[in-house]
Amino acid sequence: MKAVLCNRYGPPDVLEMHELEKPTLQDNEVLIRVYATTVSSGDSRIRNGSRKSLPLWPISKMALGIRRPRKNILGMDFSGQIEEVGKDVTQFRQGDQVYGFCGKGTYAEYISVREAGSLSLKPPNMSYEEAASVPFGAVSALDFLRKGKIQAGQKVLIYGASGSVGTYAIQLAKHFGAEVTGVCSTKNVDLVKSLGADYVIDYKKEDYTKNGERYDLIFDTLGKTPFAKSKYSLKENGLYVTAVVNYREVAQILITSKFGKKKIISGIAGSDPKDLNYLKELIEEKKIKAVIDRKYTKEQIAEAHRYVDEGHKIGNVVINWEAKMDEH
Ligand SMILES: NC(=O)c1ccc[n+]([C@@H]2O[C@H](COP(=O)([O-])OP(=O)(O)OC[C@H]3O[C@@H](n4cnc5c(N)ncnc54)[C@H](OP(=O)(O)O)[C@@H]3O)[C@@H](O)[C@H]2O)c1
Repeated sequence: MKAVLCNRYGPPDVLEMHELEKPTLQDNEVLIRVYATTVSSGDSRIRNGSRKSLPLWPISKMALGIRRPRKNILGMDFSGQIEEVGKDVTQFRQGDQVYGFCGKGTYAEYISVREAGSLSLKPPNMSYEEAASVPFGAVSALDFLRKGKIQAGQKVLIYGASGSVGTYAIQLAKHFGAEVTGVCSTKNVDLVKSLGADYVIDYKKEDYTKNGERYDLIFDTLGKTPFAKSKYSLKENGLYVTAVVNYREVAQILITSKFGKKKIISGIAGSDPKDLNYLKELIEEKKIKAVIDRKYTKEQIAEAHRYVDEGHKIGNVVINWEAKMDEH
């Protein structure tokens, strides 16, 4: 099978197509033919591997591999079709259209995933490309909004509203009944409004920390507005949640967990299959949709990484592995 390998850290050119053996299937696994995957901000960071790209350096580098990536197939999320099931598998059948996360890397023609792993039936009203763009962004958004104890009627601000996590966070926060303010750049204001935001702040023109508004929950999807500044925009018991944590934030998390009413919260987003099932229902009810910026073929994966490296993608960048364009 074909797979894109990342055998050293560096610019997108380090990604190379190779021929590998198909994964051997364990009894509790399914073999999936990958139709679509994504280039997430996480993939771009890991491939780069530099001190600047990896928060919590050098711990993160030790976890990923010091000299070269320990796991040389990148890619986290996928959509595809089950080609074979292990003999102990009961919930899935050959031919099922599925989507999910795969810790072993998804830049490959075939992947094996545990039946009990991060796997769910694909929302039938989404194409493979759309479904592949759900796990990283939407599961993370859901997880962080829950960490922030989101409730109906709250005033919630989503910073980085035009990214993968942000576009889903806006839609999910609206679904949970919050009054939602999105923060993005001028060119993305209409998109963020169209996703349901009640208010949109253009960060190029206005600093939300200086407009006198107070929020119950601020979710900074990019970690670009420090807690020390944002806390003045929180209500008395407000929570600041960030998807990007460095040593300063770790210290602030420890301190605010013991002292003060305003807290900072972060962590690693989960990959619970229950969340994929829940998101599938919301997608079927048309409560959330995928925002896709660009689509590339597997041969163009380095080009896709170059684009994501720029940091301005809108929603998601999809890799169409099997040219199953727009097939539902
Ligand atoms: N902890 C976890 O478990 C976890 C899980 C998922 C993601 N993450 C992290 O969360 C971060 C966000 O991920 P993502 O995939 O959503 O990012 P992304 O899609 O790459 O974000 C790109 C978006 O951010 C906007 N942006 C750039 N600079 C900005 C600024 N100064 N203010 C506001 N918006 C700005 C860009 O538009 P403009 O340039 O036009 O503004 C673009 O639309 C990443 O660092 C990722 O690694 C962490």
